[in-house]
Amino acid sequence: MIMWIHPVLQTLALVLSLYVLYLGWVRFAFAHLGKKGVVFAWKRHVLLGKVVLCTWAADFAIGLAAAWWGWKSVFITHHHYLVALVMLPLILFALASGLVMDRTKAKRTALPLAHGCANALLVLLALYQLYTGIWILRDMVIG
Ligand code: HEM
Ligand code: HEM
Repeated sequence: MIMWIHPVLQTLALVLSLYVLYLGWVRFAFAHLGKKGVVFAWKRHVLLGKVVLCTWAADFAIGLAAAWWGWKSVFITHHHYLVALVMLPLILFALASGLVMDRTKAKRTALPLAHGCANALLVLLALYQLYTGIWILRDMVIG
């Protein structure tokens, strides 16, 4: 049971991240592609974005704790933990840049772009984590 908390939470956050990315895409299309007649759901993007990024970060620790609980060892899942270590600083940047843009509204180009790229990359990495995570479940948790 304990070994399932981390994979279930991370998968739910991944699904939610696709929606948050879609909301961000709406903003991107308006700001950079000149698409008119679209409304960026600012508050919803910020709230759900915080839920996704905080879940990914907190559930990193839960994954480690579960590994210690189940296997008495951590950092043994090869690509899965390595990619997780790459995700941590990206999550910090994504959250910090989002908070700055939300608190002090201004006309910007570079910061939203950097924020959007970091977050799009995070979603791709999380998809990869799902792929490697399913192998871990099959070989090391169920099997
Ligand atoms: C999974 C999480 C997230 C994803 C995938 C995401 C994605 C994006 C994308 C693609 C954009 C458009 C960037 C552009 O126009 O160049 C954007 C804009 C924005 N994001 Fe996020 N974001 C996430 C989390 C957050 C969080 C946690 C916050 C706030 C704490 C936030 C605040 C904002 C704001 C304020 C903008 C508009 C900036 C502007 O145009 O001035 N985002 N996001
Ligand atoms: C999205 C971001 C994710 C991050 C940052 C992350 C991070 C981690 C970390 C740091 C560990 C400890 C590994 C070790 O000590 O070697 C771990 C374990 C694990 N991860 Fe992930 N993970 C993510 C997503 C997923 C997903 C989507 C799944 C599967 C659906 C998954 C399945 C597992 C499993 C089965 C373990 C073994 C411990 C446990 O069962 O809780 N992970 N993960």
